[in-house]
Amino acid sequence: MSARKIIIDTDPGQDDAVAILLALASPEELDVLGVTCVAGNVPLALTAKNARIVCELAGKPETRVFAGCDAPLKRKLITAEHVHGKTGLDGPALPDPVMPLEEQHAVDFIIESLRNEPSGSVSLCPLGPLTNIATAFERAPDIAGRVQEIVLMGGAYFEVGNITPAAEFNIHVDPEAAEIVFRSGAPLTVMPLDVTHKALVTPERNAAFRALGTPVGRAVAEMTDFFERFDKEKYGSEGAPLHDPCVTAYLLRPELFTGRHINVEIETGSELTRGMTVADWWRVTDRAPNATFMGDIDADGFFSLLTERLARL
Ligand code: RIB
Ligand code: CA
Repeated sequence: MSARKIIIDTDPGQDDAVAILLALASPEELDVLGVTCVAGNVPLALTAKNARIVCELAGKPETRVFAGCDAPLKRKLITAEHVHGKTGLDGPALPDPVMPLEEQHAVDFIIESLRNEPSGSVSLCPLGPLTNIATAFERAPDIAGRVQEIVLMGGAYFEVGNITPAAEFNIHVDPEAAEIVFRSGAPLTVMPLDVTHKALVTPERNAAFRALGTPVGRAVAEMTDFFERFDKEKYGSEGAPLHDPCVTAYLLRPELFTGRHINVEIETGSELTRGMTVADWWRVTDRAPNATFMGDIDADGFFSLLTERLARL
């Protein structure tokens, strides 16, 4: 079976980095057409730099990396240096990238790819705010119907918010973009905090990364060592939640996840709950289902897949 064509849209971010590494370690299953960068965890200049650092760490400098939108559709950018550090990739000391950034804007690359590849053959994998995806859908309304699947990390229901009491960061940063994507009609699979908060890098799991004895294993261990502070302090969790790699793992082994096909709407009106994903988990409304919203993960299976694949790099 030929490899699945994907575009990873990302705001690296240590967890984005691990998601990209997992994808680049799986060329038999995943054909990464491009990595499109968006402002989110840190400003665009840094996410575009970090994405290339990660591709070079993976030994894949031929990967095409594009810079996209540097601010949300209608709001001021909110970043998360308090979680990811000043560079967005704090933890390991990694060299500046040598590989070039593509000239083409990320949004134009997304539109062109969806128009040039056979309809239904390309999946979009957003790991950050949905600004690039929404901009592409607004600029080229014909492409939403050509998307095979959107598999994104964002939102929350039982876990509620991580950046505000009500909202998860990716959706909170650009709720108008999220609303466009969730209403696009494209097949949508959502990895919310309800799942990613169960994918914790415990000391044993971190030790398994380190035990790989490779630059990738060491870097991932150091990234997650740095990245866990925020969640340990806030939730008392026993390690960093690997949010974004849940997207890549779903593409590789969907059976690791369970969820429900339900209606999910985005709060854009209220400042108090801006960016909340209002998930009709109990199906109490007659709103049409528009997303497969994940609720559980086989965490041990996830980490054995991740560790085994990282060992390949
Ligand atoms: O809320 C977690 C999400 O926000 C992750 O994608 C993390 O990288 C940040 O972008
Ligand atoms: Ca991210």
